[in-house]
Amino acid sequence: MHDVVDLLLLGAVQLLTCRTGEQGPKRSKYLSDVGLVVNGAVAVSKGRIFAVGTREEVEERIGAATVERTIDAGGRVVLPGWVDPHTHAVFTNYRSDEYESRILGDSYLEIEKRGGGIKRTVRGVRETDEEQLLELSRRRILRMLEYGVTTIEIKSGYGLDLINELKMLRVISRLGEETPLDVVSTFMGAHQKPEEHSSGETYVRLVVDEMIPAVAREGLAEFIDVFCEKGVFSIGETREILEAGKRHGFGLKLHADEITSLGGAELAVDLGATSAEHLIKVSPLGVRKLGQSQTIAVLLPCTSLGLASSRFAPARDLIEAGAIVALATDFNPGSAPSGSMPLAVAIACSQMGMTPAEAICAGTINAAYAIGREGEVGSIEVGKKADLVIYDVEDYREIPARAGINLSAVVFKGGETVWEREGFREKSEVGI
Ligand code: NIG
Ligand code: FE
Repeated sequence: MHDVVDLLLLGAVQLLTCRTGEQGPKRSKYLSDVGLVVNGAVAVSKGRIFAVGTREEVEERIGAATVERTIDAGGRVVLPGWVDPHTHAVFTNYRSDEYESRILGDSYLEIEKRGGGIKRTVRGVRETDEEQLLELSRRRILRMLEYGVTTIEIKSGYGLDLINELKMLRVISRLGEETPLDVVSTFMGAHQKPEEHSSGETYVRLVVDEMIPAVAREGLAEFIDVFCEKGVFSIGETREILEAGKRHGFGLKLHADEITSLGGAELAVDLGATSAEHLIKVSPLGVRKLGQSQTIAVLLPCTSLGLASSRFAPARDLIEAGAIVALATDFNPGSAPSGSMPLAVAIACSQMGMTPAEAICAGTINAAYAIGREGEVGSIEVGKKADLVIYDVEDYREIPARAGINLSAVVFKGGETVWEREGFREKSEVGI
């Protein structure tokens, strides 16, 4: 049958495919292999990548196929859409007064103790109905799309009772249906112990005996996550909750070693978790264990920024130990209100010693591995979804170097244009 190419994208001065080939997730020296094609092109058919390579290679591959639409990137850079594998994007209000308190010297855990932090957002989410929560969150993630994010993971965890956790999870699922983004859902009932469970132990029982089975029954989440932290969920409680999650078929994730060094990374590896996230205070043993495992180290540099902290996860140690490093925003109303993947990439470069190439692979293909979407998104390879971003730059290293500016020009999801900067060609500094 005659092939139809829905979209032919030409003129990429640098096309970063982030392809993995035989390697699987990118570790050690492979993390800096962005799969660069100079003068690259991509052909899309039925929303999927049909051909990718140099212009000559792609034109030869498509031969006499009918081309419905051709777009010339005009000497700009083309990347896969970002994958943000760790967010808490469903919430009510930002807690920016707490941001100021932290700058003035209060710690995150002190703010929690006096009724701020996660518990404050829980009060807001419980009082907000599903439709309103959906609308607020929809607008937020559409803004992330403008920054080139085409796949996002979202956690529940501001409900902390069965009714409100299910409400959040329904919102997360509807966001996947009602926006162009692919949304992956994580149940995080164990984000905090709510005020009404003063002993804490009764809440662990509620999570294990009622919430996990109910979420599994409703099919509302793919992963389960626990905030394993001093004063939140202990190592023992985290293990119990995650083992119950595993029995119900969830993939496992942990907020590990964020504020104190509890051994969360080691636990993640022992449980065969998909990912261990944060890791600012990961121990040397945790680094070694991650290096020898399939558990992905998801690093969240925007959180250090939001916590007004100059401590970051030891990205270089992890990369050198062979760990699979990914990047995410941790977008949430308290510790990480930025929600910008390009900013996460920029901080990873300037503050954590990752090169631009490493940070880009960590925010695309390795991030896709962190949410089990490596077969669908995260790289520009034949058969995957055509999630592509044209960046208004001549060199991919401008993306982190020019931090704080949204340099994306056109965002494609499944081959469709889902966002385009107004008049970007007239305002562009490229190709004059
Ligand atoms: O990943 N660490 C725990 N949870 C979030 C914070 C959420 C919030 O402050 O609302 C985090 O940083
Ligand atoms: Fe988080």
